[in-house]
Amino acid sequence: MVASSVSQARVWFITGSSRGLGRVLAETLLERGERVVLTARNPQQVEDLAAKYPSCALAVRLDVTKPEQVREAVKQAIANFGRIDVLVNNAGYSTVGTIEEVSDDAVRHLFEANFFGVLEMLRAVLPHMRQQRSGHILNISSMLCFAASATNGFYSSSKLALEGISGALANEVAPFGIKVTIVEPGAFRTDFITRSVVVTDTHIEDYKASIGDIRQQLRNADHDKLGDPKKASLAMIQVVDSDNPPMRLALGADAVDLIDGALEFIKAELDAWKEVAVNTAFKEIVVGGKT
Ligand SMILES: NC(=O)c1ccc[n+]([C@@H]2O[C@H](COP(=O)([O-])OP(=O)(O)OC[C@H]3O[C@@H](n4cnc5c(N)ncnc54)[C@H](OP(=O)(O)O)[C@@H]3O)[C@@H](O)[C@H]2O)c1
Repeated sequence: MVASSVSQARVWFITGSSRGLGRVLAETLLERGERVVLTARNPQQVEDLAAKYPSCALAVRLDVTKPEQVREAVKQAIANFGRIDVLVNNAGYSTVGTIEEVSDDAVRHLFEANFFGVLEMLRAVLPHMRQQRSGHILNISSMLCFAASATNGFYSSSKLALEGISGALANEVAPFGIKVTIVEPGAFRTDFITRSVVVTDTHIEDYKASIGDIRQQLRNADHDKLGDPKKASLAMIQVVDSDNPPMRLALGADAVDLIDGALEFIKAELDAWKEVAVNTAFKEIVVGGKT
């Protein structure tokens, strides 16, 4: 549904609008006449969009790891538009390396962006959404939550932490008319692999045979096969337009296949070990719940 007029258009607040999925979503929304708070660590990267759509776009500096910038960005958004209808927690990156190789500092830095940054955003925006008694939060996660491949453990765990709070959040804010959707993209053609994947400098020789040269794999990533960020944007808009939005939205055939496979595997293992699992109560209980 295309917004009918600028005055009725929703206000979207998108973290990491400088490039990739965040930027394409912002462009798509502005083309449709919706209002967008464009946020970037370097606001110059979104000034072209702000200049093209002066009444609908607001460019604001925002590094999600800086709580004072989060508060100031939300304050500016409310001062300018009076409300925030949709918060898209999109900013994020990945650190690649085995559990032994990545330093504690690198892990903490990753969680500052992918988890604590989102937490700051939620705590800054939710009071406004609660007051409005409406809103929708899209938390951009990853299909890798369902299958943490070797060397992606910390990226997956940062997104799993995000998914962990999203479920509770959805239950907490539903009474205020606020919806929460976790978005789980597969591989999309953005700058993610080239600019948002930090490969650890530490390499333990022993892992080379099983994991191979990660840098080489990343360089050889087949960009032709990656999903279209424009279509991802339209899917996210469709979710926000929906009267009955999903708790989870997988994006891309690769995400659907991977999640399908993971769920089948979980179900098969659950069934295979069910008898062991259920017979752990004080009273003897057999499968099916009969004592
Ligand atoms: N593309 C994929 O295949 C894929 C798959 C699954 C999940 N995702 C998720 O999708 C989201 C968007 O990624 P993308 O594919 O669009 O990658 P991208 O093109 O590399 O864009 C990443 C965005 O995040 C921003 N960002 C990173 N750290 C930030 C921070 N501390 N504060 C504010 N902004 C920050 C970047 O800003 P700067 O320009 O300042 O660096 C950039 O705008 C991420 O959460 C990613 O984990 C992507």
